[in-house]
Amino acid sequence: MKHTSLLAVAAAGFVASMMVAAAPVQADAAKAFKKNRCAQCHTISGKHTIGPSLNGIIGRKAGTADGFKASRYSKSMVAAGEKGLVWDAKSLDGYLANPKQFLRDYLDDPKASTKMAYPGLKKEDQRALVIEYLTNAK
Ligand code: HEC
Repeated sequence: MKHTSLLAVAAAGFVASMMVAAAPVQADAAKAFKKNRCAQCHTISGKHTIGPSLNGIIGRKAGTADGFKASRYSKSMVAAGEKGLVWDAKSLDGYLANPKQFLRDYLDDPKASTKMAYPGLKKEDQRALVIEYLTNAK
């Protein structure tokens, strides 16, 4: 019995230290979303602005945010979704690094383009933070 409770205390301590560690990371992730201009065009609240809201983006088919009209997306984004593009950490990393090129490669179409007026986020660590932020944006 004593052994079990000691374990429980140790586990609780571990969880607590994880929570302390997670808080600043989440703050950095939120900062990265602002600093890299994503917040100028996107929310994670469900409200669409210049771009579609990014809540629940992980696991979502590209170009299909609920309530963001298909006509507000580029033809390429809709086509990519139809071809099977689903957002996950890997596809987001590729898209965010170079949005237009990513769609061109994905669609195998040198004329593909995107309505996201953003040249790409070149810093890998910043992309990782933004993706972490989106992963938590349920
Ligand atoms: C200047 C405005 C603008 C900025 C800045 C911007 N976006 Fe976008 N974003 C858009 C628009 C508009 C679309 C729709 C693109 C299309 O249809 O081709 C979009 C599309 C997306 C999509 C695909 C959404 C879907 O429903 O399939 C993701 C993911 C995304 N943006 C993430 C980001 C992130 C992360 C950043 C910051 C690194 C960012 N965007 C910066 C305007 C912007």
